[in-house]
Amino acid sequence: MGQFKLSTKSVVKKGNIVNKVDGAKNVKKFIIYRYNPETENNPCLDTYEVDLEQCGPMVLDALIKIKNEIDPSLTFRRSCREGICGSCAMNIDGTNTLACIKPINDIKGDVKVYPLPHLEVIKDLVPDLTYFYAQHASIKPWLETHTPPPPDREILQSKPERALLDGLYECILCACCSTSCPSYWWNGSRYLGPAILLQAYRWIVDSRDEITGERLDNLEDPFRLYRCHTIMNCTNTCPKSLNPALAIAEIKKLLVRRR
Ligand code: SF4
Ligand code: SF4
Ligand code: FES
Repeated sequence: MGQFKLSTKSVVKKGNIVNKVDGAKNVKKFIIYRYNPETENNPCLDTYEVDLEQCGPMVLDALIKIKNEIDPSLTFRRSCREGICGSCAMNIDGTNTLACIKPINDIKGDVKVYPLPHLEVIKDLVPDLTYFYAQHASIKPWLETHTPPPPDREILQSKPERALLDGLYECILCACCSTSCPSYWWNGSRYLGPAILLQAYRWIVDSRDEITGERLDNLEDPFRLYRCHTIMNCTNTCPKSLNPALAIAEIKKLLVRRR
């Protein structure tokens, strides 16, 4: 019988409690996962108290305030601060979402912040997305045409053809969906996961693309596509209100129809 032993580093310990808000009336506790794989230390949960009267409304505002005013070593990604770049994806209050558009007031009690689940952690709230991006590259996320384009104009689409891309082109590749998917947790090295499959479908249904058959061939595989069991975590968690589970179902339908 196989025996499995968890790494001692898998134990998340209690961390520091930082109280910097003496006298403030509207205080919220942020309990934040801290880990630096370059040290011998286990991961821990540090607690920071933030005066909400002196803080912007979103969880990212609080993280930036903590980094600027309390603990400059706190590490996380962010860029656009308006839900467009996808870089501030993390697990907040038990749900994968974007810190910059998650209102603090939506959360009852303490705010618990972890990195996206089931990925290697580079530091604190920064997961390693190298493999996720490699999977994205594997579906050729660009237009492939063999017919020479018209010399004097763009490749045109009708309005219905363009409408097929709605609900797909808005994906910001934040990885909230893939890292909420149990099938991706257990088979992530071979299963493409909902984000990449939604992207794959976006190019499959693009009327201008000329390698649809090749794209479908690449997906017809028990692991790359068919590990999706319609659990729907992906759709429930997407911070852009997209429906990756539907995109996956549409790919499966296309594969059945061409048999
Ligand atoms: S489908 Fe939604 S959750 Fe998934 S990567 Fe795209 S925007 Fe993020
Ligand atoms: S519907 Fe498919 S992709 Fe979405 S969470 Fe479930 S198994 Fe994962
Ligand atoms: S900072 Fe760009 S999506 Fe949050």
